Amino acid sequence: MRISVIGTGYLGAVHAAGMAELGFDVVGIDVDQAKIDALREGRSPFYEPDLEPLLRKHVDSGKLTFSTDLSDAAGADVHFVCVGTPQKRDGLAADMTYVEQSIEALAAHLTEPTLVVGKSTVPVGSAAQLQARLIELAPAGEGAELAWNPEFLREGFAVEDTLRPDRLVFGVRSDRAEQLLRKVYATALAADTPLVVTDFPTAELVKSSANAFLATKISFINAISEICEVTGADVTALADALGHDARIGRKFLNAGIGFGGGCLPKDIRAFIARAGEIGAAHALTFLGEVDAINMRRRQRVVEIAGELLDNHVSGRRVAVLGAAFKPHSDDIRDSPALSVAGELHLHGAEVSVYDPKAMDNARRIFPTLRYAESAIDACRDADVVLHLTEWPEFREVDPAVLGEVVAQRNVVDGRNCLDREAWRAAGWTYRGLGRP
Ligand SMILES: NC(=O)c1ccc[n+]([C@@H]2O[C@H](COP(=O)([O-])OP(=O)(O)OC[C@H]3O[C@@H](n4cnc5c(N)ncnc54)[C@H](O)[C@@H]3O)[C@@H](O)[C@H]2O)c1
Repeated sequence: MRISVIGTGYLGAVHAAGMAELGFDVVGIDVDQAKIDALREGRSPFYEPDLEPLLRKHVDSGKLTFSTDLSDAAGADVHFVCVGTPQKRDGLAADMTYVEQSIEALAAHLTEPTLVVGKSTVPVGSAAQLQARLIELAPAGEGAELAWNPEFLREGFAVEDTLRPDRLVFGVRSDRAEQLLRKVYATALAADTPLVVTDFPTAELVKSSANAFLATKISFINAISEICEVTGADVTALADALGHDARIGRKFLNAGIGFGGGCLPKDIRAFIARAGEIGAAHALTFLGEVDAINMRRRQRVVEIAGELLDNHVSGRRVAVLGAAFKPHSDDIRDSPALSVAGELHLHGAEVSVYDPKAMDNARRIFPTLRYAESAIDACRDADVVLHLTEWPEFREVDPAVLGEVVAQRNVVDGRNCLDREAWRAAGWTYRGLGRP
């Protein structure tokens, strides 16, 4: 079976490599020439653990090719659409331009019955409209069928999640579409991966709801962490106790600086926007609060840093450990770490940033910050150290060694995962979020 993957970003590049690993002949298509040039050489245009060896293996074997020419996708049995759906510049809604453009451009090449499978995260109702557009534009007419197959991979674990997903969702309108998707995912299905076969709106809503739930869980514990800050309670002990309740579970109950990235923030906003468009705004008003709680946590880190500097931020040296929105990724989209770094810089602080993988991306977006060679280098002469991305190497830093290079031993643990007692024992003033 021949597969095309349209859009080779964080989702599509991994999906293309994963499909080749599963034995298919795959062509990845993107409009970004630099990305395609890298992928053609078996190099990953972004950092994702385990991706590069997989790319190299299948580029070398010839199973995986890349192109900027959409006509190279013609003739594939299944086309996966993995282009971006960022937040619109002028509102909360998702910008569907890339999905619409790619499906319309692809339609012209569909002369034979084919399955087009949407994987991008889209507002509910999109698939039905896109199916109508495909039939209208494709020479194959009704033979150009659409399915929606939302993606749940986590950056940092994307290869594993692609090869061994925790569930599969097929939004389909025909048995033919379901059977084709069953062939594509035969390996996962043989391993008893749970499968939900459903209609378009349900498939679309599964993804929006999953992200809304995860965001709500994080903002829930962060709201409780605000209460802990007022009452002197410790949100980490509280979360441990809550997590022992099997109905609640411990995952996603780590209070801290909140969520970011290219998915959760824009997906909950797009969900709110679509609820408004379909006359159901009241159902999701709580997600506006989830978003607000999340953004308040970034502000709180800025405030705590200010408190540690006796409210004289201007001219003071601030070390920021972390730039990616999460560890094991170089993705800085809506990164809490960089938004805190940027804000302190605007207040006049001299901000020095270090991240093991996201330096180039961060430099592009925030060129006015200083970028250090290492965690130690970032902390040299710092008046306060902010731990904002949970990379293992930051957790392993010896607070006594770091204490030797800073101007003042002040640390804000925005991820609540440093060893508080060890840092205090080394003479640091330690401030967590929601912790005394
Ligand atoms: N990144 C994740 O962890 C993740 C997980 C699940 C779902 N998603 C969803 O997947 C979609 C893609 O996300 P991403 O993180 O990979 O975004 P991304 O920005 O990394 O990648 C999108 C790619 O699409 C390309 N593109 C845009 N228009 C195109 C066109 N007409 N033809 C070909 N390529 C085109 C862009 O050049 C870019 O390389 C989004 O809807 C996102 O919400 C992402």
